[in-house]
Amino acid sequence: MCGIVAYIGHREACPIILKGLRRLEYRGYDSAGVALLTGELTVYKKKGKVQDLENFIGGRNTHAHIGMGHTRWATHGEPNDSNAHPHYSTSERIAIIHNGIIENYAALKTHLQKQGHVFHSDTDTEVFVNLIEEIQTQNSCTLEEAVRLALHEVIGAYAIVVLSRDEPNQLIAARKGSPLVIGVGQDEFFLASDATPIIEYTNEVVYVNDYEIAVIRDNKLEIRTREDVKQTPYIQKLELELESIEKGGYEHFMLKEIFEQPRSILDSMRGRLELEAGHLNMGGVRAYEQKFVNAQRIIIVACGTSWHAGLVAEYLLEDLARIPVEVEYASEFRYRNPVITERDIVIAISQSGETADTLAAIEMAKSKGATIFGICNVVGSSIARATDAGAYTHAGPEIGVASTKAFTAQVTVLTLLAMIVGHKRGTLSETKLRELMVELSNIPAKVEQALTLDAEIQVIAEEFKDVTNFLYLGRGYNFPVALEGALKLKEISYIHAEGYPAAEMKHGPIALIDENMPVVVIATKDSSYEKVVSNIQEVKARKGRIIAVVTEGDDVIPAMAEFVIEVPATSEVLMPLVSVVPLQLLSYHIAVLRGCNVDQPRNLAKSVTVE
Ligand code: F6R
Repeated sequence: MCGIVAYIGHREACPIILKGLRRLEYRGYDSAGVALLTGELTVYKKKGKVQDLENFIGGRNTHAHIGMGHTRWATHGEPNDSNAHPHYSTSERIAIIHNGIIENYAALKTHLQKQGHVFHSDTDTEVFVNLIEEIQTQNSCTLEEAVRLALHEVIGAYAIVVLSRDEPNQLIAARKGSPLVIGVGQDEFFLASDATPIIEYTNEVVYVNDYEIAVIRDNKLEIRTREDVKQTPYIQKLELELESIEKGGYEHFMLKEIFEQPRSILDSMRGRLELEAGHLNMGGVRAYEQKFVNAQRIIIVACGTSWHAGLVAEYLLEDLARIPVEVEYASEFRYRNPVITERDIVIAISQSGETADTLAAIEMAKSKGATIFGICNVVGSSIARATDAGAYTHAGPEIGVASTKAFTAQVTVLTLLAMIVGHKRGTLSETKLRELMVELSNIPAKVEQALTLDAEIQVIAEEFKDVTNFLYLGRGYNFPVALEGALKLKEISYIHAEGYPAAEMKHGPIALIDENMPVVVIATKDSSYEKVVSNIQEVKARKGRIIAVVTEGDDVIPAMAEFVIEVPATSEVLMPLVSVVPLQLLSYHIAVLRGCNVDQPRNLAKSVTVE
């Protein structure tokens, strides 16, 4: 959560920082602020979006070549002007921006208050900056030294940037547990939570590691550990296109990302599915192939939509590779005392690669000797770096807060993994493997076809935009899709929605059904089709309003449903990649019709870096 951005160089800092904040707004949008070295150390901050900050700044002095900015997702303290970052120290000599949480802030605050520090916000961050000031005063040391010493005293997660009025030609940054990237330009440097604010200026970046402090001064970048050991910055080339982080003519990022899926699914298979040569190839799996073949059990850890992709993987891996799979919410798994052995493989799935609970689950499983395999979208992210091996999903940046193309890319990669492991274990025959490869290579075209349903789905959205509840039902491979459809609807339209296994409905939720209840049933032709038809009858008998997602050409369900959405036929195993698309579009259109902020839904942020 929270986005941070900073600049030091020969250009005007403020426009670069504001543009960077707009790019990072998906990480939080409760308030925004900037600090600029204008001769003074000047802070402007405001509750609300970056646009509110820009309106507030208009006409004020922003002339500076060094500065930093922050867009907030509130943790400690409600969203208001005083809790917005940057925060000054008591003397207003130092300012800080921070992404993360300082867990021992209360004890530190009491101590600092006794030393005379005065607080104007409810945040843990204001404690951090006063701690730095206190240490600097007590030790008569440089800001760099004070930051280093302060990092030994704080417990928690942080990516910070610190500016000082008294040492005006430098930026100091540090990280532990929250992401921080430095862009290296020509006589200028950019710092940010991810590369999106940097890419239009330079494609050379340095990812700061945990417990490292970066000091940029006199046009030079120096990185040291918290123990003051000098590191050699590792400059990497970014492969990120500017157009991939812009809306490209779509009204919302979410819509753009839904429509990108034929391409993003293809990208997630590229170089991995070699149809003509007849083989599958996944670099990250190669060295661990034998481990997968001999695995007693696979545990999947993830959160939210990534957890739904994990559920699809449970069906895939058990079906194709005959390995027992457990799918765990990372946040629950890490606080249990789970039985994990060295023979277990833990697959961590995360779009952002920064989700704090998933990261902590990985660390816990690692400490018990399990092999950790990561499936991430963001290259160089914390999870990607914490795992033993893994595969990137290559979906490209996902900016809409509601995850869409990341889900289908995750499912694609997990399908490839299950096929590779199943084939190696001898549980997936050559013939079946070949069939699936052909069918998988046809999926981008089938998703393209599903996207042509957009206009039909808008009509359905119009019909149901004012309801207060929705049910989503599915069985087998379509059960996780029902969960995902319900999550998409509730997070962006604020309509209460629940996903259920279709057959489980009669054990309780059926009591909810009356003539006002829309029930989305994913009822494509698969091994449980007949049973789902019976479940539809049960809903119809209670006058529920059925919206059915069916396989093209179905001539049974249309007679029972009020609305029918026909998707192209594919193998049962691959159906989630197609059947999820109309549900993404349905939630998108309902949210738009209700006037909701689709890309920035209330209370949410894209990357959940707090536990
Ligand atoms: C839902 C959504 C969230 C994320 C979850 C995990 O649309 O975006 O539920 O899926 O916060 O995030 P990652 O995949 O980044 O670990």
